[in-house]
Amino acid sequence: MNDTFLKACRGEKTDYTPVWFMRQAGRYLPEYQKIRGKVTFLELCKNPDLATEVTLQPIDIFGFDAAILFSDILIPLEAMNLKLEFHEGRGPVFPDPIRCQKDVDNLIIPDPDVTMDFVMNTIRQLRSELKVPLIGFSGAPFTLATYLIEGGSSKVFLETKKMMFQKPDMYHALLKKITQCNSLYLQAQARAGAQALQIFDSWAGILAPGDYQRFALPYVQSMIKDLRKMTDVPIIYFANNGSTLMDHTVTAGADVLGLDWRINIKDAIKRVGNHALQGNLDPISLFLPKDDLRARIKSLLEDAKGAKGHIFNLGHGIVPQTPPDQARIAVDAVHEFSGK
Ligand code: CP3
Repeated sequence: MNDTFLKACRGEKTDYTPVWFMRQAGRYLPEYQKIRGKVTFLELCKNPDLATEVTLQPIDIFGFDAAILFSDILIPLEAMNLKLEFHEGRGPVFPDPIRCQKDVDNLIIPDPDVTMDFVMNTIRQLRSELKVPLIGFSGAPFTLATYLIEGGSSKVFLETKKMMFQKPDMYHALLKKITQCNSLYLQAQARAGAQALQIFDSWAGILAPGDYQRFALPYVQSMIKDLRKMTDVPIIYFANNGSTLMDHTVTAGADVLGLDWRINIKDAIKRVGNHALQGNLDPISLFLPKDDLRARIKSLLEDAKGAKGHIFNLGHGIVPQTPPDQARIAVDAVHEFSGK
């Protein structure tokens, strides 16, 4: 069992720097495309055999130091009684977005072990096959709310901010329900065998710091507080585009803070106190010529040396156009330069 990743999460000394990539199982891999060609994305998420297979692919191919469960942050929202569709080229769509109090009232809090048993079965199956730690995950309540309120991805988040500013009671009632559902969902993942949990706040960075503090952070804190009562697995909080929010994100209660690439990790270290850090190579750096890519990784590892713990990752998900060979160069460079 390779537990280097878990040690780094806890801020313990490691023999080398562990590495995994957000979206490491996905469309840049021909092996993934082959399976995905036969089923829809949601069918893939709900089939434990296939979900296990695609989770393992990047571990077998590149030797990452952690695996992340193959699923999606929107799965528990569907389980709350909402129609969810994935449209090719357009991403996720909720055809009936949440816009009034009645919509909020209609949301149910599912029992994750029943409604999302396929996730728990995937976790159990993965644990019996993996030699590296398994990361479970959920979305952060604010990020999930944007998908529900907008009905999909968005640019200016007009409907979400309108609800916050004009109907704060409705907004908070919605966030409370999303938090309850995802809190139970992460607890179930820990019980099923997830060895670390990452909370993805992909859209945190669209909020002014004061609004983040009022409308997003308390719900992350609440989820983490509930988790602490039942498990001691490391918790990673990734607030994308969040370097302007760091005074607040350090109070979320996580062990590890995920960083996007817009901040130098050296500057982040000065501001995060007692946290381990995860990140933060620009995913598009994987398109650099080999020597430049390796040099950039070397200097990131140098800059991260003062951290209480460092898990090498990209600053956001790997893009589908990435040549797999470039991912291999990056993983090998992290291991080589950090002494594996
Ligand atoms: O390898 C892994 O990281 C594990 C699997 C994973 C997926 N989605 C698979 C996926 C994880 C951890 C996620 C999280 C997720 N999903 C986030 C947070 C991370 C981030 O990127 O900010 C968000 C915002 C979503 C919602 C989502 N799912 C969007 C916006 C999209 C469409 C955009 C896109 O990249 O296509 C998805 C689809 C999705 N989720 C795919 C995968 C592999 C592509 C689906 C396909 O095969 O067609």
